[in-house]
Amino acid sequence: MILMASKKKDVVVKNLSYIYPDDTPALHDVCFEISKGETVALVGQNGAGKSTLLLHLNGVIENENGCITIAGIALNKKNVRDIRKKVGVVFQDPDDQLFMSTVFDDVAFGPINMGFSEEKVKKRVHIALQKVGLAGFEERCPHHLSFGEKKRISVATVLSMKPDILLLDEPTSNLDPGGRRRIIETLKTLKSTKIIASHDIEMLLEICDKAILMDKGRVVGTGKAEDILTNVELLNSHGLEEPTVITLLGDDAVFMIRNNFDSHGIKKHREKIKKATSEAEEKKILSHV
Ligand SMILES: Nc1ncnc2c1ncn2[C@@H]1O[C@H](COP(=O)(O)OP(=O)(O)O)[C@@H](O)[C@H]1O
Ligand SMILES: [Mg+2]
Repeated sequence: MILMASKKKDVVVKNLSYIYPDDTPALHDVCFEISKGETVALVGQNGAGKSTLLLHLNGVIENENGCITIAGIALNKKNVRDIRKKVGVVFQDPDDQLFMSTVFDDVAFGPINMGFSEEKVKKRVHIALQKVGLAGFEERCPHHLSFGEKKRISVATVLSMKPDILLLDEPTSNLDPGGRRRIIETLKTLKSTKIIASHDIEMLLEICDKAILMDKGRVVGTGKAEDILTNVELLNSHGLEEPTVITLLGDDAVFMIRNNFDSHGIKKHREKIKKATSEAEEKKILSHV
């Protein structure tokens, strides 16, 4: 008998429910598991509970019902500070993330709190800023930057802590195409486990392995990213729309998005398939002659 080694679980959520202090229900009996190194899309219409869920996973919101296990350790009040060293969260609004007077101080905040030497802090800041393409911004004031730059600095404030698990809330929202592309390419280089809440389905299809679909605080679908995020009926029934590229290209869309194809690339890809098919057909015919 061959025993399959089960992949280590990095995030396990069991029966998590949450009601905000003003009695707004936000999460209902949420359950899922994420393996180490996976990149997971978290999708759902506004108010589905995505942000509330992410805020639970590094203890910004205390879990009152249910159980959250991070890298095998059950998250609780006592270990929340240690868990936060493993789980970094990039908030949707960069103004919630940036509060120091220079970019350097914001990006250095985490590593300083982790007790690193001055030299190591500087190195971490330098590498994190390089990763988001903003090396040289150290002395700038975060609040005087463009939205896209602020967003990238927000990502850097978390990358500088080298978290094992990265939570990103709408990382590409309100970015111009260049800013969006840079964030996507940065995320692709990171080996950490990632959970990305977003409405940018094309971006999610490009970088995610799995997807979790939420609606009104409940998980209503989990599976491979390409299965969930191209399931037009499923998306539509929970208030989401598939990207036009899927409407136009169907199955080819995933291939195209993942390979960063433009229309020329997809044309060549189709020609290749057509050629391979006709060659196979020709061989079949010849073998019968
Ligand atoms: N601070 C808050 N106080 C009260 N209700 C909130 C708060 N934040 C979010 N909610 C409510 O919780 C539900 C889930 O919201 P949220 O997690 O922000 O969803 P999403 O991120 O998917 O848009 C919504 O009904 C929302 O109105
Ligand atoms: Mg949200």
